[in-house]
Amino acid sequence: MIARVWPGDEGAKRAVLGDWRTMPFAAAGYDAVIGDNCLAFLSYPDGLEQVVAQVRRVLRPDGLAVFRVFVAPQTPPSDDDLIRFAYSLKGKSQDAFRWRIAMHTANCAPTPNVLANDVWLEFRRLFPKPEELLRANGWEEGSFSVLELYRGSEMMISFPTVDELSGVALRQFGQMDLHSSGDYPMSEHCPFVVLRGFAAT
Ligand SMILES: C[S@@+](CC[C@H](N)C(=O)[O-])C[C@H]1O[C@@H](n2cnc3c(N)ncnc32)[C@H](O)[C@@H]1O
Repeated sequence: MIARVWPGDEGAKRAVLGDWRTMPFAAAGYDAVIGDNCLAFLSYPDGLEQVVAQVRRVLRPDGLAVFRVFVAPQTPPSDDDLIRFAYSLKGKSQDAFRWRIAMHTANCAPTPNVLANDVWLEFRRLFPKPEELLRANGWEEGSFSVLELYRGSEMMISFPTVDELSGVALRQFGQMDLHSSGDYPMSEHCPFVVLRGFAAT
């Protein structure tokens, strides 16, 4: 991935492959930490706690962390709302549909962590004839290929609510603010989360 997109190290610019939970960087060395949907594959709360602690460790005290994060609603939508949402994506990307189903699966589960296979089961429960949605939305054959890969998969995906997220983040940071990340399908569930100011630990 780095080889494909990174033009090469230059001066102070470096690409480093690492794990968010054990960042290979010195303490208090950075003004900003930025991540785009990079937290969804970390278990809640342990994985998330590890990352937030690491982010605090590498930031200078006046630094800022910004993440675009999937945040599940406090109350899950009804099946009908979800089906309506799916059909509202006509002509648009199918990714929003997949993330919405995954978030819904977590929303209805006892914890924010769900297995990909459970997402696939929820997909088939809500859309027993997925080809109807495919046709109605003008999506190409094979558009559900990623969802189909979830079948039998034990990959874990996590969708905390705002309260769950802030419960972890505010143990390390003094302030957590949410900002809209735009106007696109699922954007209302995918805000920018800004963390700043170290909390007393
Ligand atoms: C939804 S993708 C978003 C990636 C990137 N922001 C982008 O736009 O392409 C999440 C990525 O996080 C990576 N990932 C999962 N767990 C990780 C971890 N513990 N540390 C670092 N990366 C991780 C996955 O391999 C995947 O590439």
